[in-house]
Amino acid sequence: MTLNADANGRWIDPGRVESAIQQLSQYGDHGETGVARLVYSPEWVAAQDQVAAWMEESGLRVERDTVGNVWGYLDGRDREQPIVATGSHIDSQNPGGRFDGALGVVAGILAVGALRERQGQPRQTIGVVSLVEEEASRFPTANFWGSRAIVGRITPEEPKRLRGYDGVTMAEAMRDAGLDPARVEEARRDDVETFVELHIEQGPYLEREDVPVGIVERITGYRQYLVTLEGSANHAGTTPMDLRRDPMAGAAEIISGVINTAHRMGRPCVTTVGRVIVSPNERAVIPRQVTFTVDARSPDPAQRELLLARHEALIDEVARRRDLTVTFRIDSDRPPVACDPDVVAAITAAAAEAGVPALPMTSGAVHDTMQLAEIAKIAMIFVRSRGGISHNPDEFTSADDAAAGTEVLARTLHALAYRS
Ligand code: GLV
Ligand code: MN
Ligand code: MN
Repeated sequence: MTLNADANGRWIDPGRVESAIQQLSQYGDHGETGVARLVYSPEWVAAQDQVAAWMEESGLRVERDTVGNVWGYLDGRDREQPIVATGSHIDSQNPGGRFDGALGVVAGILAVGALRERQGQPRQTIGVVSLVEEEASRFPTANFWGSRAIVGRITPEEPKRLRGYDGVTMAEAMRDAGLDPARVEEARRDDVETFVELHIEQGPYLEREDVPVGIVERITGYRQYLVTLEGSANHAGTTPMDLRRDPMAGAAEIISGVINTAHRMGRPCVTTVGRVIVSPNERAVIPRQVTFTVDARSPDPAQRELLLARHEALIDEVARRRDLTVTFRIDSDRPPVACDPDVVAAITAAAAEAGVPALPMTSGAVHDTMQLAEIAKIAMIFVRSRGGISHNPDEFTSADDAAAGTEVLARTLHALAYRS
């Protein structure tokens, strides 16, 4: 097959991937290498504008949907056919690194731009999407706001009901970004046949295996809780230990208990407590209330259920024994998602064709692709993360690895959208 490749056989220039990532990281830059780009903030709006400009420069037809996702299309010959799509999210952790989400958007534009230049018009339209939100870093219960809108799972009252850490509602934040929250439902679509997301691995597997690219076969399931324990605030010196209703003691027991449960159950179970709010938060006061998050995950459906059941039983038992009032809210809940075997096979063949070493793997992070699985055949391409570090400004992926993954993406899209 003639593939119009460069002399080195590659379609994607690592220098272009690196400079696009560098430019995008200036929107919401934080310290030396971090990014804090929260959904619908002014820096987020500027980043989406930059992405739209890149799409236009690459010869794509640009549209923005009513939730703020930016779509760039390389129109196919057969406009009646559903589309083949790629992309990722533009928001970040607070602060996060420059690659999480951003690399999938940059890779999508470069891959589809390369296809346009080298292969001409596809049979099926290819879409690149820069999704609104994935990190829940501004709105803890946004739950993949951009991709959820695409699959039609946002209820009309949600924009008014969801409130961010800054006290602003989703509806207000959308209006600040020039969007009408009453029109969220119009972002829904049913014409995506296949969705392939490129993302950094965010873990240590590929580096340990010394391989640049991973082919995701399964994405973890997870549940996130917000647990609140309430007892009695009192004097730290005068209240005997046996007369206390101390929510901090209960939280300490639950936090170490859930983490140890995941340890005992072993890989790939993971449980994290990442946020604790203590009130009052004083040295000489037994607190009245402790609120904390629990994030528990496993890619195995039965193991996930067992892990969650153990966590919930422990929370109840500790609260009862310590005479604490407990409430727990489930903020996010997704079962594991299996990737489509045909799309996985297309990625595997594309990696072989490009001469890029690649290994099958499981994603321990959650992704917009899990939402898209409701309407499309899905799979993901991972690229190696240095030191396995992510959700941290130190996150790094080399230009060569990022370009190798983008090469695999381009060839996968070629196989899917140009076949006759
Ligand atoms: C994604 O950001 C995750 O928390 O896995
Ligand atoms: Mn991400
Ligand atoms: Mn992330």
